[in-house]
Amino acid sequence: ILNNNSDIALENSLNKKKKKKKKKKKKKAKSSLEITLRPLRITDAEDFLKYAGDEEATKFTRLRTLTSKEESISYIQSYCIPHPYCRSICINDCCIGFVSIKPEKGEDRCRAHLGYGIAREYWNQGITTGAVKIAISQGFQAFPDLVRMETFVELQNIASQRVLEKLGFQKEGVLRKFGYNKGAIQDLILYSLLSTDPIP
Ligand SMILES: CC(C)(COP(=O)(O)OP(=O)(O)OC[C@H]1O[C@@H](n2cnc3c(N)ncnc32)[C@H](O)[C@@H]1OP(=O)(O)O)[C@@H](O)C(=O)NCCC(=O)NCCS
Repeated sequence: ILNNNSDIALENSLNKKKKKKKKKKKKKAKSSLEITLRPLRITDAEDFLKYAGDEEATKFTRLRTLTSKEESISYIQSYCIPHPYCRSICINDCCIGFVSIKPEKGEDRCRAHLGYGIAREYWNQGITTGAVKIAISQGFQAFPDLVRMETFVELQNIASQRVLEKLGFQKEGVLRKFGYNKGAIQDLILYSLLSTDPIP
């Protein structure tokens, strides 16, 4: 029996602590999922649609939201497979999204563009941060002339900014009205990571 205000306060604080502990445990369990990267395959088409067929997940990217398995097959075949580095982000070898690194050509091959995205049901579990960390290390090894990876992020895309910051990318500034996406010209934040930068 709780007979005064301080007992109630103590009970509330204990409950809050218990809830916090439970949440932490859940997060830890989720983040122990095994993340692997491999080239995308035609047979990933249906799984890939969970990301690429979702308007909410593609709204901050230049990808036109895919609407069918056939479109997904065609995208994997014509874009992902010939790409210099486009990997499926996998949980238990099942495709849940992608990460790509595309070096520029000729004298600009010192820099590459980084892209990534995963299906909504997997957001906020540390998966993209883990996957991009692996990709960065593979990318600098696969393209020896590469010294800089960069990416452009919309101002409202807080989750993506957080991923980059967790990986040690530096925010270089806001490029005003820099790129066209989903019907409007957007301000984009430019982030970069040099091969010599420490990754936390
Ligand atoms: C951006 C995206 C790839 C992030 O993937 P993810 O697996 O959820 O990323 P992580 O879990 O590794 O990290 C997300 C971080 O953002 C934080 N976050 C997410 N939404 C947030 C919000 N609205 N405000 C503040 N922080 C937020 C999370 O808490 C987490 O940070 P933490 O680890 O410090 O708690 C994912 O949301 C996605 O696929 N978006 C659509 C495609 C896209 O935007 N691609 C990038 C284009 S530049």
